[in-house]
Amino acid sequence: MEVMKESLSVVDNRTGRSYEVLIRDGAVKASDIRGIKLSERDFGLLCYDPGLVNTAICRSGITYIDGERGVLRYRGYPIEELAERCSYLEVAYLLIYGELPSRSQLEEWRWNITHHTIIHENIKKFIDGFHYDAHPMGILISTLAALSTFYPESRNIFDEEVRNKQIYRLLAKTPTIAAFAYRHLRGAPYIYPDNDLSYTANFLNMVFRPAPNMRYEPDPVLAKALDVLFILHADHEQNCSTTVMRAVGSAHSDPYSAAAAAAAALYGPLHGGANEQVIRMLQEIKSVDRIPQLIKEVKEGRRRLMGFGHRVYKSYDPRARIIKKLAYEVFEVTEKNPLIDVAMELEQIALSDEYFIQRRLYPNVDFYSGIIYQAMGFPIEMFPVLFAIARMAGWLAQWQEQILDPEQRIIRPRQIYTGPAERHLE
Ligand code: CMC
Repeated sequence: MEVMKESLSVVDNRTGRSYEVLIRDGAVKASDIRGIKLSERDFGLLCYDPGLVNTAICRSGITYIDGERGVLRYRGYPIEELAERCSYLEVAYLLIYGELPSRSQLEEWRWNITHHTIIHENIKKFIDGFHYDAHPMGILISTLAALSTFYPESRNIFDEEVRNKQIYRLLAKTPTIAAFAYRHLRGAPYIYPDNDLSYTANFLNMVFRPAPNMRYEPDPVLAKALDVLFILHADHEQNCSTTVMRAVGSAHSDPYSAAAAAAAALYGPLHGGANEQVIRMLQEIKSVDRIPQLIKEVKEGRRRLMGFGHRVYKSYDPRARIIKKLAYEVFEVTEKNPLIDVAMELEQIALSDEYFIQRRLYPNVDFYSGIIYQAMGFPIEMFPVLFAIARMAGWLAQWQEQILDPEQRIIRPRQIYTGPAERHLE
């Protein structure tokens, strides 16, 4: 039997020359294409890929997605198993260090994160400076960047001990900053972190405790539900914000600056903002009898069904399946969010409609997550902030993988220049 050759034969019809380009791991190296030239002086062939839709920018051992089959795994473990059996902090450890922590490693990990949750009093003053109607995501982005000025040693990114310290700090302080942003906007007194609570119970306490002198018991069901939501959002391989984290990290900037940039990318409505759009759409429909009109408008191409469709998943988004079930567990504690009925009906109608079947459009992670956040009492503008807290684990894992990967270089793409040819001032 003939041995399969791991290469690509190309003929450049401009010159008639043939080339053999190696294939490794199902990919050709874009720099190998550069060898295809018109003449010695020619720069060589470029790959044009706006949106990087068919460009692998790294090798990664962190997250695996099979969009055709609706599969999502972190470090090999199916997301369903992790969501059911692990805590967010265990999953964060898994993403960052490659294996689930042993019992003692988990204890140490928890201790390290719990003991970095306090933010410097000057950071609190920094948050105080924001206007009363500032978007909490703007506060988060700026405050993450400001942290780099408090920890200047963080720029020693190749020192493992220093790196670990910043990992603890970013995972620990992001929920505190997020909660302080929320309280600042309400003019409510800040609630300091409570080291006796779990990661998500502490966050709920910092957000919802009415005042430092008033009692508030975070509901364990809600804390657990938030923990699961954080697991589901913890990483999603080379999405926009993660790519930004890697790009900034590739210049060897400190992780606070890189995380601020990643959060800025997440802020965009095409990325972390879709769940907000879902809530707005469901609020606009209000009742199930308005669904046929919406579907009609979608099919006529006048609008999109928010929370439906995904660039990668072409069958059901596995995260959406878990979230849908979670919603009912949350409603046992909170009041039922009436939008869930509209959402369920909408899903059913859409999934039996030829338009959606043909285009393989299914609910994505954002279709149900906003409904849960809203039922828990979070205002819509906090949704991307919640996403950022969860995604911090993935950003840090990908950042670390990037800077330790000897194949990686500063990210510096090429362009196809379309401006004027050389010209001169009159
Ligand atoms: N509603 C109606 N039609 C849709 C939708 C939708 N939500 N999504 C895609 N289509 C149609 C689209 O009009 C096109 O039809 P045609 O072939 O007739 O022109 C076809 O499906 C393919 O769409 P596309 O725009 O080429 O798909 P894409 O992979 O570029 O876009 C998407 C993916 C997620 C941006 C898109 O599905 C969308 O806009 N969805 C709504 C917004 C949303 O829910 N975003 C959250 C994504 S999940 C969060 C995350 O992981 O970051």
